[in-house]
Amino acid sequence: MNTPAPKPWEHTKSGQGSASDPLAARFVSSLDYDKRLYTHDIQGSIAHARMLEHVKLITKDDLKEIERGLNEIKAEIDEQGDAWPGWKVELEDVHMCVEAALIEKTGDAGRKQHTGRSRNDQVATDLNLWVMDAEQHVIGKTESLCDAFVELAERDGHIVMPSYTHLQRAQPIVVGGELVAWLQAISRCEYRINMLPSMNYSCPLGSGAIAGSSLPLDRDVTQEILGMGPHESAIYSTATRDTALDFTYSLTMTSMWLSRWAEQWIIYASTEFGFITLDDLYTTGSSMMPQKQNPDMLELIRGKTGLVYGSLMALLTMCKGITIGYNRDLQEDKRHVFAAYDSVCDCLDMAARIVKTTKFNEDRIKQGLDKGFLDATSLAEYLVTKGVPFRTSHQVVGKLVQACRDKGYEKLSLLKVENFNAACTESGSDAVAEQDVYDWLGPENVVKRYQTAGNAGLSGFQEQLKAWKERLGEENAG
Ligand code: ARG
Repeated sequence: MNTPAPKPWEHTKSGQGSASDPLAARFVSSLDYDKRLYTHDIQGSIAHARMLEHVKLITKDDLKEIERGLNEIKAEIDEQGDAWPGWKVELEDVHMCVEAALIEKTGDAGRKQHTGRSRNDQVATDLNLWVMDAEQHVIGKTESLCDAFVELAERDGHIVMPSYTHLQRAQPIVVGGELVAWLQAISRCEYRINMLPSMNYSCPLGSGAIAGSSLPLDRDVTQEILGMGPHESAIYSTATRDTALDFTYSLTMTSMWLSRWAEQWIIYASTEFGFITLDDLYTTGSSMMPQKQNPDMLELIRGKTGLVYGSLMALLTMCKGITIGYNRDLQEDKRHVFAAYDSVCDCLDMAARIVKTTKFNEDRIKQGLDKGFLDATSLAEYLVTKGVPFRTSHQVVGKLVQACRDKGYEKLSLLKVENFNAACTESGSDAVAEQDVYDWLGPENVVKRYQTAGNAGLSGFQEQLKAWKERLGEENAG
């Protein structure tokens, strides 16, 4: 005699079902990671049951029983977590475990819960609901990181430092000028996530397995109860993972920016640069070299980006080869979305702490500030204000920098007015330099001279900081 298949939905199997081989049971199960969806699964089930009652497919009493049962199950899982006895690997996933527990508690009422529903529209709904919540969590964390950058900018923002292109000294800026750039990048990551709800989160419930249902399900009702967007094609709703993909892509962008920032600060924390000191809390020692203070937290923020990018690639890859309709490949989606989300959340929290506790070393930065002719562009702009065409002034300053190097001078301001003028005439221009040229030289002078909007000098930094404080103040209040 055949043993009945222990999966209640495997009726057509002649012999043992897929639960009989422990490897197959484990292989097909997503319980390990999808139990995390239980709150959203129950939320979706309650909405579905209310809709069923609304269209008279179940009675008011059925609905009462179903809601009681589901609320009890939620309370039990809230309390017992992984130890909840309803988690049974042979039931494959969170959906079947919750439903089995519901039937155990409520009998026939529970047996009506799955009317007009498939796990395909159920899991798509759960995941959309989960992503909606996850996005709000990430936004809370990006906001905290932005606040941390503002705090640091208020403390150390005035310090004059070099900026770098190609990691070679470029023009002088203030520390705050660079900090608001990171702030802007993180804030754009937040904005990107904030934009997602406008195109995502339709409610897949009512799509059934693929084609919809011949029962009079009212998709408007479930959509409204769950606060989701207008419903879409039943086939698309159950076949797509676009919401998860859009979110994961946004996470990779966040991760990319965090990694880039981490890299910059790892460089700044090196002995060679010495621009910043990281708090002891966020460095670690070496098991062999007693003197070491390694920026491991920053390195891990950079390193974890690999996992986040990998998650996006995994999702894209699993979607690229499947027909339009649910395929079991899609079950793997959640693992990657969750992994990317967990990692980015951790990194954002860690980044906020690091930013809050890092100090820019004013004296150390000052010591090296005359290196690299940071004021060369400013000098070229000075000559422009005296009527020299920019291309000529660029050439003049290039020669003056070379002259300084030949003389062993580190600063352009060591040159005399006559030197500036000799270089001008040599390049076929009038001798235009006067004593005021020295107001345009030296990093401290230069950072005060920038006047373009968004500049990384003093005026630009102060203006941007003020705007950010107003904006973040409003967000925090709102
Ligand atoms: N655990 C499954 C998933 O996450 C649920 C859907 C199963 N659907 C099916 N037709 N076998 O995708």
